[in-house]
Amino acid sequence: MTLRISVVGCGYLGATHAACMAELGFDVLGLDVDRERIDALSDGNVPFYEPGLEPLLRKHVESGRLSFTTSYAEAAEFADVHFVCVSTPQRDGDFAADLSHVHRVVDELAPLLTRPCVVVGKSTVPAGTAEGLAYRIAELSPVDDAAELAWNPEFLREGHAVEDTLRPDRLVFGVAGPNRRGEPGRAEDVLREIYADPIAAGTPVVVSDYPTAELAKVAANAFLATKISFINAMAELCEATGGDVTVLADAIGHDPRIGRRFLNAGLGFGGGCLPKDIRAFMARAGELGVGEALTFLREVDAINQRRRERVVEIAGELLTRPWPGSRIAVLGAAFKPDSDDIRDSPALNVAGRLHLHGAHVTVYDPQAMDGARRLWPTLHYADSVPDACAGAHVVLVLTEWQQFREMDPYLLADVVEQPAIVDARNCLNPAKWRAAGWTYRGVGR
Ligand code: UDX
Repeated sequence: MTLRISVVGCGYLGATHAACMAELGFDVLGLDVDRERIDALSDGNVPFYEPGLEPLLRKHVESGRLSFTTSYAEAAEFADVHFVCVSTPQRDGDFAADLSHVHRVVDELAPLLTRPCVVVGKSTVPAGTAEGLAYRIAELSPVDDAAELAWNPEFLREGHAVEDTLRPDRLVFGVAGPNRRGEPGRAEDVLREIYADPIAAGTPVVVSDYPTAELAKVAANAFLATKISFINAMAELCEATGGDVTVLADAIGHDPRIGRRFLNAGLGFGGGCLPKDIRAFMARAGELGVGEALTFLREVDAINQRRRERVVEIAGELLTRPWPGSRIAVLGAAFKPDSDDIRDSPALNVAGRLHLHGAHVTVYDPQAMDGARRLWPTLHYADSVPDACAGAHVVLVLTEWQQFREMDPYLLADVVEQPAIVDARNCLNPAKWRAAGWTYRGVGR
């Protein structure tokens, strides 16, 4: 019989996972405590912007393979496998991860697990969490160790979430050792069955213990953050020496040991994952008594924060008038293109700083306007690039949307007051913009 799946937590990760599990051929029940979200998803509406997700959701809601509920009892009754996809945000007032959602899910679900099943954690958690949850499930579940826990970290990128879930570049299965009776668990086999399609298509599987699986996620994000901050540190060196960091990235990126991807210098990283994950990782290392191992991540964070101020400085250098009274167009509010996510968005952070200097800041983003308006109601907003740039003394490109990459510098020169542009993502062709009469400034070039 085909496995039935529940997905607990239908935010970004969970909604995507639920739709993709249905696409892989399983009957799926999504669970969330947010009634509004469940109603939207049940109607086939995705409450955030993710390319390709809504058609997939609709397809499977209509086929009846995917449905949603707010009831834990229903999910427990329905599924053989329960994926835990709730968020683990940064705790208020410190660096550590807030695990209250994960704990609540286990406390609600475990007592209702009355038949053999596998609970699969996907949320990003500090190393050591899974072991504690496994004990808790054994303690609360009426079926004792027939309810197993596995850890299967999620590596999906926003903007590519569907593709990353259906065709992941690797799968990590953190599983428990043999049970008290010396019998091996079923979790690995169950996960292999669920991911049979991607595995058949060549996705490698790494099987590990719990802590290694938990670490795999945060270590990957720490590495990616370090790679970005490394190239941004090189951007500082390029600015000091007159070098060009984009060419430098090509020069070192051709070395396959280094690789060119994630070597784009600019405004640095933001979003709901990288910043909070490296901080939670440092906090956890401190708790484990190995804080020194990760002190370099403080530097990674500091380099990243410096980019934001540096872009403001460059904008100031281009202005020929004081901040108050200057009109600035900000193109981009999302933390990266193809997303409406503004969590820790470097773009909005810069827009806010410019505003606090006294400038009149007008923001345009193809998808993130609603969120931006809520977070920064004191900024001005326009419905298009030309409207945002009308009368501007300087234009800043802060998120590298395709639409911004393709802007015509000649047309835009006609609407601004002064043709000056800061390309904070190094995504424009400087020669083209200069030829059209613009003063062009990238970062680290
Ligand atoms: C990241 C990880 O990539 C993913 O594996 C994990 O599951 C969640 O966190 P995401 O937050 O969606 O994914 O974004 P990502 O594409 O990694 O970009 C993160 C940030 O780094 C963005 O703000 C982006 O603009 C920035 N970035 C990325 C750079 O500044 N330079 C680069 O070269 C690449």
